[in-house]
Amino acid sequence: MKKLIGAALGGALLIALTGCAGGGGGGGGEAGADGDLIVGFSQVGAESGWRTANTKSIQGAFEDAGIELKFSDAQGKQENQIKAIRSYIQQQVDVIAFSPVVESGWDTVLKEAKDAGIPVVLTDRSVDSEDDSLYASFLGSDFILEGEKAGEWVNTEFADADKVNIVELQGTTGAAPANDRAEGFRNVVTDAKFEVIASQTGDFTRAGGKQVMEAFLQANPEIDLVYAHNDDMGLGAIEAIEAAGMVPGQDIKIVTVDAVKDGMTALADGKINFIVECSPLLGPQLVEIAEKVAAGEDVEKRIVTEETTFTQEQAIEALPDRQY
Ligand code: AHR
Repeated sequence: MKKLIGAALGGALLIALTGCAGGGGGGGGEAGADGDLIVGFSQVGAESGWRTANTKSIQGAFEDAGIELKFSDAQGKQENQIKAIRSYIQQQVDVIAFSPVVESGWDTVLKEAKDAGIPVVLTDRSVDSEDDSLYASFLGSDFILEGEKAGEWVNTEFADADKVNIVELQGTTGAAPANDRAEGFRNVVTDAKFEVIASQTGDFTRAGGKQVMEAFLQANPEIDLVYAHNDDMGLGAIEAIEAAGMVPGQDIKIVTVDAVKDGMTALADGKINFIVECSPLLGPQLVEIAEKVAAGEDVEKRIVTEETTFTQEQAIEALPDRQY
């Protein structure tokens, strides 16, 4: 054991003393012993089917590209992400990428990365920093647009209704997709006949969606529509609605965001009525961006993921080829 610790310490010292240059125009980032790229990625956690597919896409893409990826799971905690980013700075990786759990509170650690000359790529979610020089690029969906697409479907679906009671299952409090999907929905669902009678976070999890929906059902006898910020919470709501003796998709309509396989299956079965897609397959684009920023090449500050929407018929057609 002592020998092992000794070897590890010796190795660490050697790396500290000889750490060879790399990371191109990114600045002070150090590459591996052979000059290859090293990327540090801090993931939100494993809260949803979307997140699992996103992790798989990122890990797979870096493996395919032969780039070393240091991966850490923050288990939904911002402090864990800050620790991970600081550790990547200390290890002098070439590029840091992360998907911020929440939008605010990143300036200090992003400045530390900038001072160390390590470019940062925001992946999937943004930060609310006013200084956009703190990151090289932001790759991910337009969450406001996703909320608007959900709202447009609601306007059409309930065009002939006089009064519509909506309950909203929000994503993680303070997370960009929760803030933006709420905002986008309200941008377009403006008619006075619509009322959001209850809105609470289900933390993007199936269990959270179920628990919050149970409480909503107990407190509100007249619910016409569930707007869930992701499929998992919508799937939890389905369980609660069925347990209450009602038929999801008929007695209470459901619109969600993501389009993961379980969500698409529920849509094909008529338990969800409409899904706005949010693609988790960001890995290959992230590899490209990481390679470019490490080489000092210009990259777009904002790269928006292309996405669609699904009706029941479209879900039935798309399901056999759905990767995740
Ligand atoms: O940031 C993307 C969101 O995070 C997905 O819509 C949700 O499922 C996930 O947890």
